[in-house]
Amino acid sequence: MAPRKIIIDTDPGQDDAFAILFALGSPDELDVVGITTVGGNVPLALTSKNALKVVELAGRPDVPVHAGCPAPMVRKLITAEYVHGETGLDGADLPEPVTPLQSEHAVNYMVRTIMDAPEGELTVCTLGPMTNLAMAMTMEPRIVSRLREVVLMGGGFFQGGNATPAAEFNIFVDPHAAHKVFDSGVPVTMAGIDCTYTALMTPEWLDRLRATGSRAAIEAANLADFYRQYGTHKFETPARPIHDACVTGYLLAPQIYEQRQCAVTIDIVSPETIGMTVVDWWHVTGRRKNCNVLRRIDPAPFFKLMLERISALP
Ligand code: RIB
Ligand code: CA
Repeated sequence: MAPRKIIIDTDPGQDDAFAILFALGSPDELDVVGITTVGGNVPLALTSKNALKVVELAGRPDVPVHAGCPAPMVRKLITAEYVHGETGLDGADLPEPVTPLQSEHAVNYMVRTIMDAPEGELTVCTLGPMTNLAMAMTMEPRIVSRLREVVLMGGGFFQGGNATPAAEFNIFVDPHAAHKVFDSGVPVTMAGIDCTYTALMTPEWLDRLRATGSRAAIEAANLADFYRQYGTHKFETPARPIHDACVTGYLLAPQIYEQRQCAVTIDIVSPETIGMTVVDWWHVTGRRKNCNVLRRIDPAPFFKLMLERISALP
């Protein structure tokens, strides 16, 4: 079976780096045709540089990286250096990238690539604010019907939010973009914090990853050591959720997820709950079930597969 073609839209971010390495370490199943970057965890110039660093770390400088939108569609950019460090990839000592960014803007790249691809071939995986994809849908609405699926890290319901009591960071940063995508009719699968809080990366797993000895594995473990410093006020153990990697895990092993097709709407009006993904888990509204909601993961096969794939990189 031919590998599934995906575009990864991302704001690296240590957990974004894991998701990208996990995907690039799975060439038999996934063909990363391109990476697009967005302002999110850190400003766009850094997320773009970080994406280049990650493809070079993976030994895949051939994967084109296109810089996209520096800020959300309506609101001002909110960043998360408090989690990811000033560079967005604190923890690893990665060299300045020698690979250049592509000159084509990410939104134009998305529109062109999706319109040129056979209908239903491409999946867009968003790991940060969904600004680029929403802008592409605005620029060329026909991409909606041409996409196979959008698989995103974002949102949450039973766990509430991590940016506010109601909203998860990626959706909170650009709720209008998320509203556009969820309302577009494109098939959506959402790995929210309900799911990612069950994908807890442990120090023991990181030791096993580092012990595999590949440079990618060692640097990924170094990234994680920095990343997991945040959250001691939230999590009772040293384990930390590796949010974005849950998107890659879903593409590779959907069977290890508890999931349910639900109606999901995005709050863009309420000051207290803007960015909330309102999940109709019990189908009480009768609305169209527009989203496959990932609720839980089976961590054992997830982390076994991720270690296997990242350690397969050089
Ligand atoms: O809420 C977690 C999400 O926000 C992850 O994608 C992380 O990288 C940050 O972007
Ligand atoms: Ca991210």
